[in-house]
Amino acid sequence: MSIHKENYKKITTHILQEMKNKGERIAMLTGYDYSTARILDEAGIDIILVGDSAANVMAGYDTTLPITLNEMIYHACSVARAVKRALVVVDLPFGTYQGDSKEALHSAIRIMKESGANAIKMEGGTEILESVERILSAGIPVMGHLGLTPQSINKFGTYIVRAQEQKEAEKLLNDAQLLASAGCFAVVLEKIPAKLAGEVSEKIPIPTIGIGAGNKVDGQVLVLHDMLGITQEFSPRFLRRYNNLFEGIKTSVLSYIGDVKNGDFPNDMEQY
Ligand code: KIV
Repeated sequence: MSIHKENYKKITTHILQEMKNKGERIAMLTGYDYSTARILDEAGIDIILVGDSAANVMAGYDTTLPITLNEMIYHACSVARAVKRALVVVDLPFGTYQGDSKEALHSAIRIMKESGANAIKMEGGTEILESVERILSAGIPVMGHLGLTPQSINKFGTYIVRAQEQKEAEKLLNDAQLLASAGCFAVVLEKIPAKLAGEVSEKIPIPTIGIGAGNKVDGQVLVLHDMLGITQEFSPRFLRRYNNLFEGIKTSVLSYIGDVKNGDFPNDMEQY
C-alpha cells in the first residue's frame, strides 16, 4: 500500500495543481482496460491516461492514427468502471478535433457523457487553441500535449527528440503558455530536451507531465505495456522497464500448454 495514496481520496485537477504548488510529483500511466486499471488505481497512481497508444499496444497498429472515437470510448468506459481514486484522462483521437472546434466539442462531450472519464487530452498548441477553448468553455477539463505529438508523425517523419532547434523550442514554450492561459489543467511534454522541459515547467503555472523530458517536470508518464516489458521492440532511452512480463506471461503459457498436452491439467482436485 502506498503512503502517498492515503493523502488524497479522489484525485481532481485541483489536487494536481496543489501537488505542483507543493512540489509533490505526479505519477501517471496509461491504461486501457478494466482489470489493469483496477491494479493501477489500487496501487495509487494519480492519473490514468486512456491514451490513443491503445492503437499500438492494444490493436497492433504502427501509429496512433487509426483508432476511432468509438474505440477510445470503449477503452475509456472499461477504465472508468474500474477506477475509484485516479483521475481518468482520455485522448481525443486523430481526426476528431483538428478541423472544426464544434466537432471537437462534440467529440469531447461524447467521451465525457458515454465513458464517465474526468478529462480529455489533445495534441498541439496554437493550431488547436480554438477547439481547446470551446471544450474548456463547456466545463470539460483539458490536458495539453506538446513536443513529440504522435498524431503528427506523418508531418515529423520520425520519432526523434523534438524542439532541439531554438525556433521549435520557442514555439513550444509559447504554446505551453497559451494552453495554460486558456485554462488547461496540465500539459504533457513528450521527448524534448530536459533543459527545455525544466524551463517550461518553471514558466507555466500548471503541472507538466514528462515522457522522455527529463526530471525537472512536475510528473512523469509511461505507456503501461512498455514499462511492464510486455512490448519488446520499443526501447527508447527514456523507457525504464519495471518488469519483463513478455517473458513472464510466455513462461506461464508454456507451462499451461505442457500441462494440457501431457494430461496433467486438470488434476483430481481441479474437477467436479
Ligand atoms: O497515447 C499515449 O499513450 C500518450 C502518452 C505517451 C503521453 O499520449
